[in-house]
Amino acid sequence: MELNIIAAVCKNGGIGLNGALPWNLKNDLLHFRNLTMFTNDPLKKNALIMGRKTYFAIPENKRPLSARINVILSRTINQSKISKDVILCSTMEEAINRFSQEDFKNLVENVWVIGGSSVYREAMDSPFCNRLYLTQIKADFECDAFFPPISKKFKIVKDINIKTGIQEENGIEYEFVVFEKERK
Ligand SMILES: NC(=O)c1ccc[n+]([C@@H]2O[C@H](COP(=O)([O-])OP(=O)(O)OC[C@H]3O[C@@H](n4cnc5c(N)ncnc54)[C@H](OP(=O)(O)O)[C@@H]3O)[C@@H](O)[C@H]2O)c1
Repeated sequence: MELNIIAAVCKNGGIGLNGALPWNLKNDLLHFRNLTMFTNDPLKKNALIMGRKTYFAIPENKRPLSARINVILSRTINQSKISKDVILCSTMEEAINRFSQEDFKNLVENVWVIGGSSVYREAMDSPFCNRLYLTQIKADFECDAFFPPISKKFKIVKDINIKTGIQEENGIEYEFVVFEKERK
């Protein structure tokens, strides 16, 4: 079992404002959709682990995110507050343990951590953490949720499936950067 992280982060480290994304970048959302949905094995799905606020930041008509197994971390809500198709876990460890079980291994190809702040931090510190797929937005935005500092254990790597160079949308420049965690 490996955890891969995906996030869009602006120049000042921000990821969100008032429970939403501070920017509107349709092609970056498409990049998120494509990466988190893609499986080599068409019979398998990917799983997405997210904090409670990230889940409710997704527009109501788009959640749970389609064709992926949605897992919410929360210590306060119960299953009646969310779709029955969503897996609710009260710790990251509980979520990781589920995907380490044999029956899930046969159904799930990749496990993606999709935010927010403390969930990213916990995933980066986890021994299961493999890669970090960042969209580095080259502008500042007002934010109230931030990406945690990236430790020196993460090194930039090339991924032939990821577009290189500066992308531009709505006058905002951004770049896809992939980091891999050193394993010792
Ligand atoms: N730019 C991006 O790529 C990106 C990605 C994701 C989110 N966002 C943005 O970030 C904001 C939301 O992120 P956030 O950092 O404020 O909140 P969040 O991490 O999504 O949610 C925080 C909540 O998740 C639960 N939680 C977190 N870690 C847990 C753990 N280990 N065990 C159990 N429960 C846990 C807790 O819920 P309870 O209080 O219910 O216990 C906690 O209050 C929104 O603005 C969203 O749009 C941006």
